Amino acid sequence: MDAIRTENLTRSFDGRKAVDRLTLEVPRGIVFGFLGPNGSGKTTTIRLLLGLLDADEGRAEVLGFDTRAKADEVRKRSGALLEFNGLYERLSAADNLDYYGRIWHMSKAERDSRIKQLLTPLELYDRRTEPIGRWSRGMKQKLAVARTLMHQPELVFLDEPTAGLDPVASAALREDLERLAMQEGVSIFLTTHNLAEAEKLCAQVGVISRGQLLAVGSPEELRSRTSAPRLYITGRFAPQTLEQMKSNPLIQKIEQHNSRLVLDLNDMQRSHEIVTQLVQSGAQIDEVRKEKADLEDVFLNLVDEDKRGEA
Ligand SMILES: Nc1ncnc2c1ncn2[C@@H]1O[C@H](COP(=O)(O)OP(=O)(O)O)[C@@H](O)[C@H]1O
Ligand SMILES: [Mg+2]
Repeated sequence: MDAIRTENLTRSFDGRKAVDRLTLEVPRGIVFGFLGPNGSGKTTTIRLLLGLLDADEGRAEVLGFDTRAKADEVRKRSGALLEFNGLYERLSAADNLDYYGRIWHMSKAERDSRIKQLLTPLELYDRRTEPIGRWSRGMKQKLAVARTLMHQPELVFLDEPTAGLDPVASAALREDLERLAMQEGVSIFLTTHNLAEAEKLCAQVGVISRGQLLAVGSPEELRSRTSAPRLYITGRFAPQTLEQMKSNPLIQKIEQHNSRLVLDLNDMQRSHEIVTQLVQSGAQIDEVRKEKADLEDVFLNLVDEDKRGEA
């Protein structure tokens, strides 16, 4: 059974579709990244999946339960970190978790052992009695993630978990998320507009723009599916060489940054022909590097094409 299945899930606000015929299957046991620019419908999707919002059309199942008819069952088995972290600033870290444990009807012994189990790998267990009001954002966010896991859910929704964190704190939280996902064997549905984050953390990503799903796959698949192979060449090039290259049918796009050429090719198998032509035209080449475009290029291309489709 999949963690999440949706079929033509659609929801409008004021006549505008925030989520538009979303059909998606997310397997269990992976970190799935839902990637899209601001306003693309990520949070609305999570709210629909949690049964906090009703769909206008289509349907969704989470952990095998219909989100409309069985929202209680879905919420019992899921954790969620949405825009508000749900923490009480005046309580200690342990009391924050304890409070949630009570809501989930866990016994005192269960709560105590769970708090230790969750806070130890986050390196927060020794600080569990401190009121969290003075903690850094990064520490609070780790605690907020621990909170979503308190009742041992099968699936956790994390809505932009690293938003507002500095790069060091973001990286630390990502590492902790990876570790917790392994330790807990929990499925994670994570939204982000940060591509590097999705790439590092997610086994699969879905790209959404203006409510519509544009692509789904592993970061690796998306890169090779959508991107032109790219060649980076460092050296010295005469201006007429560049002119010549512009009319070369193997080259889709050419850019020059000082001593570096960036070439998008139609066929990476024939990159040696380009290098040969450059040398023959008198270029002095220091270095040639081949690379697939990164996820950022793929993402920007997809979103760009989608926007142009609208015009
Ligand atoms: N409660 C709401 N009322 C009206 N419009 C909303 C509401 N929630 C979301 N929207 C609109 O739906 C679109 C998608 O929003 P959202 O799902 O929050 O995007 P994201 O999380 O990807 O940034 C946006 O245009 C947003 O303004
Ligand atoms: Mg959002």
